[in-house]
Amino acid sequence: MKSFISNSVENTIELGSKIGALLNPGDVILLTGDLGAGKTHIAKGVGKALGVKRIINSPTFTIVKEYSGNNVKFYHLDLYRLDGLNNDFDLEEYIESDGICVIEWPHQIEEILPKEYLNIKLLRLDDNQRKIEIEGIGRYKKYEEMI
Ligand SMILES: Nc1ncnc2c1ncn2[C@@H]1O[C@H](COP(=O)(O)OP(=O)(O)OP(=O)(O)O)[C@@H](O)[C@H]1O
Ligand SMILES: [Mg+2]
Repeated sequence: MKSFISNSVENTIELGSKIGALLNPGDVILLTGDLGAGKTHIAKGVGKALGVKRIINSPTFTIVKEYSGNNVKFYHLDLYRLDGLNNDFDLEEYIESDGICVIEWPHQIEEILPKEYLNIKLLRLDDNQRKIEIEGIGRYKKYEEMI
């Protein structure tokens, strides 16, 4: 596990970009932390590093947003309002694709999560400060050293 302190929105986006630059097709990132912890700002940074030009916003009402990066699809999932797995979304399709998948509130779909992933936990310390913990599970362990 690797731990960072972010002192601004820009810091958090920057950290997301560093992570995004390391990723390979098919990679999955889980983002956990309370409402307003900064998960979507990590996603913004990841998308930026992948070459996404559109603005990445919280997809709270849409569950999945799909973006095009440089030769890679970027899927931003926000499962806060998902009501379990009894729904019409084929989320496995995104998770098992060769795009990059970033998932906010992933505990909703534990049964279909991959065995290996990059776990990012955000904790609000004060108005502008966040603690960000990064843990690579399985083959993602290598990313901890690289960030
Ligand atoms: N260091 C920081 N890093 C990220 N966000 C910060 C930081 N300091 C303050 N903020 C503020 O915290 C909020 C983070 O919002 P963001 O949408 O990224 O959170 P989230 O974890 O995705 O929330 P939600 O669960 O509602 O989707 C924003 O209002 C942002 O301006
Ligand atoms: Mg969010």
